[in-house]
Amino acid sequence: MEKIIISGGKTLSGKIRISGSKNSALPILAATLLSKNKIILKNIPNLSDSQSMLKLLESLNSTILQTKEFIKIKSGQPESCVASYNLVRKMRASFLVLGPLLARYSYAKVSLPGGCAIGARPINIHLECLKKMGVNFEIKDGYVIGKVEGLLKGAEIKMPFSSVGATENILMAATLANGQTVIKNAAIEPEISDLANFLNAIGAEIYGIGSRTLKIIGKKKLIGGKFSVMPDRIEAGTYILAVLGCKGKIKLTNLNIDLIKHLINIFSSISELHFKISKDKTMLEVLCMKRVKKNLKIKTDIFPGFPTDLQAQLMAAMSISDCKTKIEETIFENRFMHVQELIRMGADISLKGSNAIIVGKKKLNGAEVMATDLRASSSLIIAGLMADGLTTINRIYHLDRGYENLVEKLSSCCAEIKRI
Ligand code: UD1
Repeated sequence: MEKIIISGGKTLSGKIRISGSKNSALPILAATLLSKNKIILKNIPNLSDSQSMLKLLESLNSTILQTKEFIKIKSGQPESCVASYNLVRKMRASFLVLGPLLARYSYAKVSLPGGCAIGARPINIHLECLKKMGVNFEIKDGYVIGKVEGLLKGAEIKMPFSSVGATENILMAATLANGQTVIKNAAIEPEISDLANFLNAIGAEIYGIGSRTLKIIGKKKLIGGKFSVMPDRIEAGTYILAVLGCKGKIKLTNLNIDLIKHLINIFSSISELHFKISKDKTMLEVLCMKRVKKNLKIKTDIFPGFPTDLQAQLMAAMSISDCKTKIEETIFENRFMHVQELIRMGADISLKGSNAIIVGKKKLNGAEVMATDLRASSSLIIAGLMADGLTTINRIYHLDRGYENLVEKLSSCCAEIKRI
């Protein structure tokens, strides 16, 4: 089993190129099922999650060519529209093939994703909304089987909660539906806008991109095209929090101004973090030299709030500080798996329901720890970089799901980190 070993306590300094967004790449890859034409995608991050989605597409008769610069995909008619348990259990985002398969083939059999380390994560909203478009669902032997007579019907859909995945599934389905679909209370995460822009680039007609109301005029077919996936704001946020934890100065490149503004905004209550935007607005310099002094209260929320995907990393970074930090997790019910591991490294964290209180310490100590999910793993990386002595992180396959070249990127910023 591979491990990561970190010799902590180094100040960070250097430049990191931010990769393409995982949470944008996965739905966009699923959306290639909507067209029979050639699609060329750039800036797809080389992650195990991207490979899992590509394997799933191949199992559905897509022909895929991967090069360093781009991925070319041509989706053929599948023998059976089945996303098997073996592929879906590895990655919940596999459930995003449901909408495209129903839209194009009027049938889909997709394994139920089940719970995961961060919570139950039901799919009721996906199914309720697709039912409004004429789909009949049956749950059998651990699979969701969806059928529709002919084409999906355009519908007016008010989402009970702005679920990211459900918005994506309905949006994709609606592009080939008969008539117009309006999605109200849609999620507005930037990755959804990226998906909508991609769909428009291959012939869809979507209006209201970036707003809570999306209007989609169904088309008879979608065409081919080229698209470059947006940068990963969670990866960028993770490196910002590494600077907050370790101190130092790094430049994050390959960003865009909207993401830069969002990142500066979510960290605005931490006055010790300083930001400088490059003239061309694609690079963000992050500087932090002092420990945080003022007590902090942060609540995770849907976009544009503080992302739940950065909660664990924030907790690690704040575990060395001169203040108390209160973090409330409002999106997932069980997203505190990293806490016990951080405590083993000397952090002072107490949990009460969905709240965590972190009392800043002067130092953390290196330890052998276990990664439990993707973002929990990156919080342990940050803690290891901050701690005195050696930290060994086990089960690092979680990190490979969401961070491209993490060890290389951090090493280039003076961190002592290696994979063995
Ligand atoms: C996506 C992201 C994930 C991020 C999350 C919240 C991808 C591949 N993953 O996950 O990294 O942490 O958004 O920003 O983009 N819910 C229901 N019923 C449903 C759907 C969701 O109750 O049918 C609940 C979930 O259990 C969870 C909350 O809604 O508590 C948010 O889930 P959702 O927005 O759907 O997140 P995902 O799309 O799973």
